[in-house]
Amino acid sequence: MTTPTSPEWWRSAVIYQIYPRSFADANGDGMGDLPGITSRLRSLADLGVDAIWLSPFMTSPQKDAGYDVADYCDVDPLFGTLDDFDTMTTEAHARGIRVIVDLVPNHSSDAHPWFQAALAAGPGSPERAHYMFRDGKGENGDLPPNNWQSVFGGPAWSRITNPDGTPGQWYLHLFDSSQPDFDWTNEDVREMFRGVLRFWLDRGVDGFRVDVAHGMIKADGLPDYTPPAEGGSMGGGGPLGLEPEIDDMTEVDGAPYWGQEGVHDIYRDWHRVLEEYEGDRVLCAEAWVDPLSKMAKWVRPDEMQQAFNFPYLETPWEASALRAVIDESLEAFSAVGAPSTWVLSNHDVVRHASRLALTAENPQGHGIGPKSPGQPVREVGLQRARAASALMLALPGGAYIYQGEELGLPEVIDLPDDARQDPTWFRTNGERYGRDGCRVPIPWESNAPAYGFNSTGAAWLPQPDDWAPYARAAQVGVAGSTLELYREALRVRRSESLGLGSIEWIDGIGDDVIAFTNGTVTVVANAGSTDVALPEKLAGAQLILSSGAFDGATLGADTTVWLRSA
Ligand code: NOJ
Repeated sequence: MTTPTSPEWWRSAVIYQIYPRSFADANGDGMGDLPGITSRLRSLADLGVDAIWLSPFMTSPQKDAGYDVADYCDVDPLFGTLDDFDTMTTEAHARGIRVIVDLVPNHSSDAHPWFQAALAAGPGSPERAHYMFRDGKGENGDLPPNNWQSVFGGPAWSRITNPDGTPGQWYLHLFDSSQPDFDWTNEDVREMFRGVLRFWLDRGVDGFRVDVAHGMIKADGLPDYTPPAEGGSMGGGGPLGLEPEIDDMTEVDGAPYWGQEGVHDIYRDWHRVLEEYEGDRVLCAEAWVDPLSKMAKWVRPDEMQQAFNFPYLETPWEASALRAVIDESLEAFSAVGAPSTWVLSNHDVVRHASRLALTAENPQGHGIGPKSPGQPVREVGLQRARAASALMLALPGGAYIYQGEELGLPEVIDLPDDARQDPTWFRTNGERYGRDGCRVPIPWESNAPAYGFNSTGAAWLPQPDDWAPYARAAQVGVAGSTLELYREALRVRRSESLGLGSIEWIDGIGDDVIAFTNGTVTVVANAGSTDVALPEKLAGAQLILSSGAFDGATLGADTTVWLRSA
């Protein structure tokens, strides 16, 4: 196990994303909490992860599940207290698990005292200058300052009402209207966030996942922008290998709010703040930029340490596309001396146990529901997800796991409409289902209230009736279970230092096969739909793990094996 003093531990770490609302609920109110996380840390140590990343648990009206922060330096009572956070951190560290917290710097909640002060202070004031307030266009200022659209749907500007009841200025919100964008050209904003970083670093956190790390600076003059109707968001095709629809979060050919050069000054500044602290800390960018060579700018030596590899997440389960994105990733990140990361699921995308079996395009963030086209076959999705995870966990660099994927959890597609909570659902009048389907509280025990999420049976999103077989307790120690597949993969990944390794491709096994060696381990993945006979050299090699059917010589469809290299 790596220790809190291991140098640059993040280069090879497996980082487990906890979505606090849905991980474990100690007080039984249906909402997960920090004491719940503490109570389940043993399971994570047992799984073999190096670190946890917690989605936001700070004070928030929860209009966007905590990504609308009203106080960056306190815990929302829904999740507990700062003391609960300290206890959780201490206990995690005692188990050799590092702690990464989510930082949301692009925008605050409209309940943040700075935004409330801005509303009260009036146009031209220093308070308004913390955010992006502008006069409207048109004779009476009743048109928005430009044509930008919110990622969640609808206009990215809302008009305020002055204290005297007259219509006032407009403010920018790239997300929900409850999430006003800060003005990052303002030194007050920069200084406030240095303080936020130090607040959590002083409490012993090992790093930050940085929300919307490609959005904080907007082009001068806030020019109008109309994204192309389709195409180009993730070179090489969308999840189905078709020309993709636009991802609302992905920087495409000059969007004036994504990927502006000015963001890099901010991360150089934060790099210096982290250096004030002993030990190796990590900043991980949520930066939806394309191509990977551009994303690599976020992890130059004096900026962040990691960036989520979303092009990898968006790659279809197809051998040549996978090989291409792996090559591109390794090349782009190593060119700046950074490790690549790998990720297949998170709280914003359709879980990969469902996504990999979709038969229609599904842009990131749109979600799937009962009426979506291309419904996945559950067994196919799980089989592919297991194979895809086994492939990912053999790659050099850092890997991110989203809670529940180690259980093989599918997306919850049939949530009742009145249970949905994602602002995307509301802002598009139900046209996009949004992300609730990947956020349902996870199952721990098969026959307990709320599957052991708590002891009362309450759950902020309803859990499906058929989740008993996915529960952790039903999988632990069961040969062939998805949980055991992950445990074994993480055990061998660590013992063989795969995260620090390098890969050499093996050619000639078949068009649907992706195969490589990483040190002592040979990995063969069959992404096709028919059996593949292994070459003589590999047939009979010692088997380390298999995600599905394998008799030593023939690899089944949608299956990955790890073999001991000769
Ligand atoms: C990205 C986060 O992952 C997502 O959940 C959130 O809605 C947006 N940023 C806005 O903060």
